[in-house]
Amino acid sequence: MGSDPTYTSPVKRIAVLGATGSIGRQALEIVDAHPDLEACALASGSNEIDSRGVEHVQVGGDLTALLEKAEPDVVLNAVVGFAGLPATLWALERGVTLALANKESLVAAGELALAAQERGGGLLLPVDSEHSALFQCLEGRSPETVHSLVLTASGGPFRGRSREELARVTRADALSHPTWRMGPKITVDSATLANKGLELIEARFLFGVPYERIEVVVHPTSVVHALVRFRDGAVLAHLGNPDMRVPISYALTYPERAATPVEPLDMSQGLSLEFEPPDLETFPLLALARRAGEKGGTYPCAYNAANEVAVQAFLAGHVPFLRIAEVVEETLAAVDGAPARDLEELVEADAEARRLAERTAGVLVT
Ligand SMILES: NC(=O)c1ccc[n+]([C@@H]2O[C@H](COP(=O)([O-])OP(=O)(O)OC[C@H]3O[C@@H](n4cnc5c(N)ncnc54)[C@H](OP(=O)(O)O)[C@@H]3O)[C@@H](O)[C@H]2O)c1
Repeated sequence: MGSDPTYTSPVKRIAVLGATGSIGRQALEIVDAHPDLEACALASGSNEIDSRGVEHVQVGGDLTALLEKAEPDVVLNAVVGFAGLPATLWALERGVTLALANKESLVAAGELALAAQERGGGLLLPVDSEHSALFQCLEGRSPETVHSLVLTASGGPFRGRSREELARVTRADALSHPTWRMGPKITVDSATLANKGLELIEARFLFGVPYERIEVVVHPTSVVHALVRFRDGAVLAHLGNPDMRVPISYALTYPERAATPVEPLDMSQGLSLEFEPPDLETFPLLALARRAGEKGGTYPCAYNAANEVAVQAFLAGHVPFLRIAEVVEETLAAVDGAPARDLEELVEADAEARRLAERTAGVLVT
């Protein structure tokens, strides 16, 4: 199956999960442009899908049933939220190459996912631009040569704002991201810095580097996607115009690195790169993620669950922007965070965190 990077079948069959979303649509654009890629399955949550002649198409329901029927070489998981978990585990368990955009599944179920990958023996290729960049900078290096990882954050639309100012921001303000065009949940996560918190935990699971050696730095133009510091003093960075089609294409055509329509970076008119430390007090969700990750067990799962509930409540107009972080913090203080021995226990930890977060937010979001 698709787990072997030397796989020589003329056509790679891709299951695009989350086909109606921002990543899913860009993935289909990449598939259409590449003669050796073919969509074999498409899935969405509730929106109608243009089937485009693809045989296996599913709206809602059990994604693993779709995958069983479609037998893809690559699963592109671009579902948003914890709902992406069964597909992540399905691919990893079977050694089917997983191109993972759905960071929430790895954050919530990191240990279970890595154990499944160990059993399945397949490839886990990150689609998140920062993690794709880290993957590329790290490729072929032995772990002991790595000093630390650096994730860049755009800082979102509210970079430089005070808490007083954030108390008044609206849904529309939060949804206007300066550098990336993305689905609503991740756009709000970028505004609160929860996205970078999720990415921090994602990086820990993907690359096995401890939290104290993963740094987050604000870089407003999103030209540098990530950096790796090595023990000899060298730093490798991954640069490019911010366009998700690059990491999507990299994951779908790995290890080939196919051409994309994205213009290479032009430095002829000059290019300044600015970095600054994140404001952890104004945007507490980044530090809360680090703490949840360090505590381990099901704390990352609870962080993700509470954040999903709080973001949904914010998008529905039930809670103000600053309440998102408070809901997550109060939920994390209330859960026991005990490790999950299996998927059933993990799903229960997720459900419990959601119940607590809904109560804390003062809303029932379903
Ligand atoms: N957008 C980016 O630039 C970007 C960058 C890095 C990482 N990511 C990650 O990629 C994932 C997708 O982000 P996005 O921005 O593409 O989100 P999006 O535009 O909101 O799309 C989400 C997709 O997931 C589908 N979906 C939701 N619940 C589902 C379910 N229960 N079963 C099957 N499909 C379901 C949606 O279907 P409906 O249309 O029916 O709701 C939609 O196709 C997220 O985990 C995000 O963090 C995104």
